Amino acid sequence: GEREIYVLGSINVDLMFTVDNIPQAGETLHGLDYLENLGGKGLNQVRAMHELGAKVVMLGAVGGDAMGEKVLASLRGWGISDNYIEVMSHVATGLACIIRMRAENRIILHAGANFAMTEKVLSPLLAVKPGGFFLAQLEVPYSLVLMGMKVAKTNGLTTILNLAPARLDVQDILPYVDYLIVNQRELELLTTIYPREEVDVQLAFTQLRQLGLQRLVVTLGAGGVLYVDAYQTIFVPSYRIDAVDTTGAGDAFVGAFVATLAQGSSMKDALYFANAAGAYACLHVGVEQAMGKREDIKAVMKGEKRDE
Ligand code: RIB
Ligand code: NA
Repeated sequence: GEREIYVLGSINVDLMFTVDNIPQAGETLHGLDYLENLGGKGLNQVRAMHELGAKVVMLGAVGGDAMGEKVLASLRGWGISDNYIEVMSHVATGLACIIRMRAENRIILHAGANFAMTEKVLSPLLAVKPGGFFLAQLEVPYSLVLMGMKVAKTNGLTTILNLAPARLDVQDILPYVDYLIVNQRELELLTTIYPREEVDVQLAFTQLRQLGLQRLVVTLGAGGVLYVDAYQTIFVPSYRIDAVDTTGAGDAFVGAFVATLAQGSSMKDALYFANAAGAYACLHVGVEQAMGKREDIKAVMKGEKRDE
């Protein structure tokens, strides 16, 4: 049957302002538009997988505030279980202030409950059936991500780490990671190599392999996607799209990649599908609209969906 995917990750309320200028010190500006979304890299990836019919279990936390209650109600409404979401009293639900200007975003986080969660959040991993997957990003405490990877690996899960937001000192986790997914900036911080083309990615992979990493996936923006392991390299070209908002594109990519692998696809198919999922996300403002269903993503692959 379908393999279970456990996700340790963040939950945020996203407050997204669309602007045509970034305010200077001391300046006040009116935004062009405003949107409130339920986001966070963890939850976005869970939603991306849920839309694709994957069996996902989210491990996370919200605050003991009104926003936290609202988040849990939304999750249940979407059909995502809140059984393993801790409610942390005296802590705020995570918040993301997103400033969107010409399809690009700038994000300020208030981690709140995402950084207050404890080891308890990992307890479902202690009783998993082998053969499933474990996925994490870095908007929750690194110590928990490291512990989660170790426990997941020991219990026979395939592990995936999306190194977002970028972080430098993660060498100790690499032996427990089956797939590392990074963008250009994240890979640069990890290896000092800013990847533009295949040779850069090969060089970075050689470095990371010595630290125990098995497989590397690098999203190169307009440069496409590169996959490298000890035996093969796969290149996937990017789509030429008119992006309106790149927020959530990385999450859509990661979610689609892991969901597709869990459904038994080949590496090449998973990468192509994930690449299209990332492109689809860029055609939609916000993160809630960014996670496509299989038909939506297939339509991008056929070149049908080029505009909002
Ligand atoms: O990757 C996009 C996400 O980053 C947003 O949903 C925001 O919450 C930030 O965590
Ligand atoms: Na988007």
